[in-house]
Amino acid sequence: MVITLSILSSVLFFATFTVARPAAKSAILPTSDLPSPSGLTLQYIALGVGTQNYTCATSTTASVPVPDGALATLYDATTFFSKPGHQSAMSSLLDSNLALKPNKDLDVLGHHYFVPPLTPTFDLGATLLSAKRLAKVPSPTGAIDWLYLVDDLSGRSHGLKAVYRVETIGGKAPATCDGLDTSKVLTVNYAAEYWLYN
Ligand SMILES: *[C@@H]1O[C@H](CO)[C@@H](O)[C@H](O)[C@H]1NC(C)=O
Repeated sequence: MVITLSILSSVLFFATFTVARPAAKSAILPTSDLPSPSGLTLQYIALGVGTQNYTCATSTTASVPVPDGALATLYDATTFFSKPGHQSAMSSLLDSNLALKPNKDLDVLGHHYFVPPLTPTFDLGATLLSAKRLAKVPSPTGAIDWLYLVDDLSGRSHGLKAVYRVETIGGKAPATCDGLDTSKVLTVNYAAEYWLYN
């Protein structure tokens, strides 16, 4: 009886542990080309869906779109992306406009936006990362770059120390501003995996 109880309690302990820390168990960051997250603990893997914003100085080929922040909803995809082989299956969650398919009911984890002048911010409510870019590598598919961002030490961050942007889809500006409206922010739809560490 004592043995049965102790087996039962270790099974329960293990089950609780597994449920509480799904991300840490099996998730493997899908790049080795960015600095490794040494000493940090994976908190969430988010699916970011939104726009990369750009501005144009003129409507001619002489101007190149200049990055002007981004706005994205961060969905909790930790369980989905923790499974081996699922890192590249992200497109199954998205429609052709890079919006989350209505039948994929992922929880909203938070929001990614820029604080003026141009500070990338990851706001999960209870935790927040005010970030600066430390490294970037080109996306293997020609989408926006894969990035490694860390706490900018502005004092605004709490509960998060770093984030990777990987498995990007879309988000790239046209090569030039030819024919684009200079009075408007140019928004380009994108999606990405954000791996958030503390
Ligand atoms: C970026 O574009 C979004 C629309 O997707 C807009 O709501 C947001 O205000 C823009 N951000 C900036 C900094 O222009």
